[in-house]
Amino acid sequence: MARVPTGIPGFDPLIEGGFIENDLILLIGGPGAGKSTFGAQYLYEGITRYGETGVYITFEETPARIMRNMWRHGWDLERLVKEDKLRIIRADPIAYERYIKKNHTQEPGAETDTTTIETVLRQIYASIREIGAKRLFIDSMTSLKITPDPINIRYIILEFIKNIETFDCTTLVTSELNNDPEHFSVEEYLAEGVICLKVFRIGGERIRSVEILKMRGTKHDEVLRPYIMTDHGIVVYPLQSVIGKEADVFSIEAFNGRRKPDETGSHRLTG
Ligand SMILES: Nc1ncnc2c1ncn2[C@@H]1O[C@H](COP(=O)(O)OP(=O)(O)OP(=O)(O)O)[C@@H](O)[C@H]1O
Ligand SMILES: [Mg+2]
Repeated sequence: MARVPTGIPGFDPLIEGGFIENDLILLIGGPGAGKSTFGAQYLYEGITRYGETGVYITFEETPARIMRNMWRHGWDLERLVKEDKLRIIRADPIAYERYIKKNHTQEPGAETDTTTIETVLRQIYASIREIGAKRLFIDSMTSLKITPDPINIRYIILEFIKNIETFDCTTLVTSELNNDPEHFSVEEYLAEGVICLKVFRIGGERIRSVEILKMRGTKHDEVLRPYIMTDHGIVVYPLQSVIGKEADVFSIEAFNGRRKPDETGSHRLTG
């Protein structure tokens, strides 16, 4: 079974080396957790290290802003776009607006008009074909929830995921953190894997943790692992835990930036 490494230092050892090729993985997290950075890093590493071209679909930020923000991590996305190794596509907001207006005038229970979703999917597929992309990043799924009707939302998400899965790309899709821990969202059930980025506080310090909630076909890690945001992107500490006494060790050492894990994640912060 072919694995697709994210290339994010310390992360791949948590999932047997990478995502299963052509799977769709959900990346959930609160505001500022690092979702967009994770996705951009996945594409950047794919291109520069693994020779796999990528497509970045953005529903919120403009491509210019994404390129500017990611430049901070030393990633020259503009050059990769010019070299036809990367496409950054802003999903068409005009078609979107039409959809919302139309949908709001529908009678309750009326069939969903999927024209907009089709337009977005066609746009995505066209860019994949254009550069033969193997990696796809979509930021974010929450933007597709454009109707207040939960049945409609379910249908839209289902259609969207079902179609994306036929594109022969290993896909990472972000979604906002679900406020209701009792109920999982439809995309959490549908995705082959779910990764959760959480930010919380321990002893006055802000700690970021990554947890693999599920990864079908993979013997995955089940511990909350710390990660940090650096000038070179995300770095995960695959042997540390944010819970228990190790947390103190982590926060002091890692935030002082003294140690970084190596690629295999075999490095220990302690010792
Ligand atoms: N060079 C850096 N060093 C340390 N932290 C950084 C650096 N650059 C960005 N950050 C952190 O990363 C956060 C933004 O990350 P990112 O945009 O990937 O998050 P996000 O989950 O996509 O957020 P949103 O929910 O707003 O879309 C910033 O709020 C900041 O805390
Ligand atoms: Mg973001």
